[in-house]
Amino acid sequence: MSEGTFDRPSEQEYVWWQRGIVYQIYPRSFQDSNGDGIGDLPGITSRLDHFRWLDVDAVWISPIYPSPMADFGYDVADYTDIHPIFGTLDDFDRLLEEAHGRGLKIILDFVPNHTSVEHPWFKESRSSWDNPKRDWYIWQDPALDGGPPNNWLSNFGGPAWTLDEETGQYYYHAFLPEQPDLNWRNPEVVNAMLDVLRFWLDRGVDGFRVDVIWHLIKDEHFRDNPENPDWSPGDNPYDAVVSLYTADRPEVHDIIVHMRRLFDEYEGRVLIGETYLPVERLVHYYGEDQAGVHLPFNFQLILADWDAANVSQLIQEYEEALPAGGWPNWVLSNHDQHRIASRVGLEQARVAAMMLLTLRGTPTLYYGDEIGMRDVEIPAELVQDPWEKNVPGKGLGRDPERTPMQWSREPNAGFTRGVPWLPVSKEYPSTNIEAQRDDPHSMLSLYRRLIDLRRGEPAMEMGDYRTVSAFRDVLAYVRDGRRGEDSFLVALNLGPHPHVLKAPEGADTGTVVLSTYLDRAEEEVAGEVELRPNEGLVIRLNEPAAFG
Ligand code: GLC
Repeated sequence: MSEGTFDRPSEQEYVWWQRGIVYQIYPRSFQDSNGDGIGDLPGITSRLDHFRWLDVDAVWISPIYPSPMADFGYDVADYTDIHPIFGTLDDFDRLLEEAHGRGLKIILDFVPNHTSVEHPWFKESRSSWDNPKRDWYIWQDPALDGGPPNNWLSNFGGPAWTLDEETGQYYYHAFLPEQPDLNWRNPEVVNAMLDVLRFWLDRGVDGFRVDVIWHLIKDEHFRDNPENPDWSPGDNPYDAVVSLYTADRPEVHDIIVHMRRLFDEYEGRVLIGETYLPVERLVHYYGEDQAGVHLPFNFQLILADWDAANVSQLIQEYEEALPAGGWPNWVLSNHDQHRIASRVGLEQARVAAMMLLTLRGTPTLYYGDEIGMRDVEIPAELVQDPWEKNVPGKGLGRDPERTPMQWSREPNAGFTRGVPWLPVSKEYPSTNIEAQRDDPHSMLSLYRRLIDLRRGEPAMEMGDYRTVSAFRDVLAYVRDGRRGEDSFLVALNLGPHPHVLKAPEGADTGTVVLSTYLDRAEEEVAGEVELRPNEGLVIRLNEPAAFG
């Protein structure tokens, strides 16, 4: 799609979620307002000015609904209310109003694949074989030997089937036994869940991120998943079989069409899907004729080895695989993945920030990445995440990337006046918002500058993408202004040694606008670009769009 051969929308036709930047909050860890050690909605409301200052467009909040918290809110017991830990519906309305007043959008998390065992629907469903809601979940008879019906595995360890002693059948759960999967082949479930979306869309919510959207439909014949020949004992137990019959089934797209149609009844709402899939599968989630989700999350930068040739290739492959009119997006971190500053180191995290905010497509930032927060090692006795508890010691646990936001030098980094639910990083006295706001060379200042640049330059928000080269540790690309606006060369050194990049003809003279070290602005470039170790540069080209 980088050829620019089909008609692009005019600037006015781009919608907010294409031009905008999304910021993800893990609500338990963002800001506590009542001293219980857990973040809440009034806490988020009190921090809205941070988003205005940083200049992001939308805030996505991980689940805030009533839940027994077996999976910290991804086990929903009531889809249309707020967990008292987080506040009330009134608190939510206030947050929405205050956010909208500042021109900020609010995106919620929709968890349609499974409910909590505590959801009244499941309580009814498990109560008897002939309960009208029996078929709202996935029930199967035991195998002949009395064991689980087939070899399907839970993402969080162990079989994906749990026996209900009372009724003698097994129910399916892709995650914890406390998270039974809904049966999306039942139209009553579809309607009930669309009503849930309507409830929030009517309230004014600007969009949803849909949890594990590729899991919604499973094989109707319950066939065994094939064994994975590459798996060996010691690996993640879930990978022992390939999830051929449990995820990414063709019928899932019919369900997504229903969701999308509902969204289209409202103005300006965004539908985002969580899609951990290879690029060639992922792009199907845009749907036939773009009738699927607006943005299937693209996690390639999270999953990739941090190597220039590799990253360059994956960007190129993603760009080429996008369907006509499919808008790209990029994610560096989230609440399920180790933080970028821990994955690639603090110096490369600056290069990664430059990449995220100069690539073509909607960027999603994860709270705390803007100050270079790192994973926090959690002592065994303080582990909260059920995944780590079930499959310990393999680095699968997600507590390290979910620790409290570091606001200031105050006790507990200004997150809570109580005892935080997860330990605050020991790095908070220097790694915090307040300290970094005043430091012109901080990670936060870099994020601010990058966002500022993206905002001010049409080529960055909407321009075309062209790979220039990937040689040794250096990855370089051009963002072309399409209507005679300025074009930019982005050169990123993904390694610890200096390099000289020979700029390609047509993109070889310009002026540095931004270095990840925040110290080289206005330097002229002619022919060659010198990059220091771990340095990224954005260069404004003298000849707009002359290259290619
Ligand atoms: C998604 C969520 C993750 C959760 C899982 C089950 O992957 O991001 O946090 O545990 O789904 O809902």
